[in-house]
Amino acid sequence: MTTTARPESAVTPEAAPAPAAPADPTFEELAGRVDAAVTAAAELDDPAKAVAEELQAAVEAVHKAGLVTIVRALKADESARSVLFELVDDPTVHLLLSLHEIIRPDPMTEANRVLVSVRPQLQSHGGDVTLVRIEDGTAIVRLEGACNGCSMSSVTLRNLVEEALVAGVSSVTGVEVLPNEPSPTLIPLDSLRIGADPATEGWVKAGPVADLAEGKVSPLSLTAASGSTAELVVVNVEQRLTAYVNECAHEGLPLDNAMLDAANGTLTCPWHGFCYDASSGECLSTPGAQLEQLPLRIDDGDVWIRVGR
Ligand code: FES
Repeated sequence: MTTTARPESAVTPEAAPAPAAPADPTFEELAGRVDAAVTAAAELDDPAKAVAEELQAAVEAVHKAGLVTIVRALKADESARSVLFELVDDPTVHLLLSLHEIIRPDPMTEANRVLVSVRPQLQSHGGDVTLVRIEDGTAIVRLEGACNGCSMSSVTLRNLVEEALVAGVSSVTGVEVLPNEPSPTLIPLDSLRIGADPATEGWVKAGPVADLAEGKVSPLSLTAASGSTAELVVVNVEQRLTAYVNECAHEGLPLDNAMLDAANGTLTCPWHGFCYDASSGECLSTPGAQLEQLPLRIDDGDVWIRVGR
């Protein structure tokens, strides 16, 4: 029996550490790589683009066939089904199965995707839409900006948001718009204090409450005993009276011919369409803008408005 000496170069060094395995790419890295490839493919000339698209379609067809087989097998095996559900929760697996239409995106994701397509049209009206939730087939949304509460809202809702959501999301059959949530305009308590002689406190009798018709904007010009004067409008929404200085918060133009939408509780300036909450004066078109409210009280069938101090 003969022995052969092992060549020096074949001796494995005992202390050498194993090379570290490369880290798995993150979901963001994978998605970024796809995005970069899509951007690069868009720059190709038409024949090259057609080849790239065919290659993509061919590879995806293979992947889809394999994935469908895997999912079917996991679904069919009761003990493996829980593994499938766990896998679907993984963002990369979820994306992969969604891309191949093996699982449906959840209704919120679908609805948000649809809203992305109508958003430019809403924004062209100075508005926007936010999906709040989906409940029993009804998509509950909030309209923002110029669309919010204005007469434009019903058109916007019906023509854009509702049509798009009902057509684009199988589980949505209708849309509900949440009412605005303005912060109420609080009149400082001391401005409401009525002294022994109302006239000396700046209160001016504006006339019988019956003269300020429901659903109307009534312009008034009042002068207090002190000589202070005020041009104002009184808005009557469902018998709730509110007095405002007759100046739009936009360019200070008068609101005599403002449009009062009693159903929506909004007041829209006739000049450039600034839209206000009729009861609080809060501008719904431009956050932070506000009509100036004047103290108003009803006494024995007469309306009193405080003008100056
Ligand atoms: S002055 Fe009212 S919207 Fe411009």
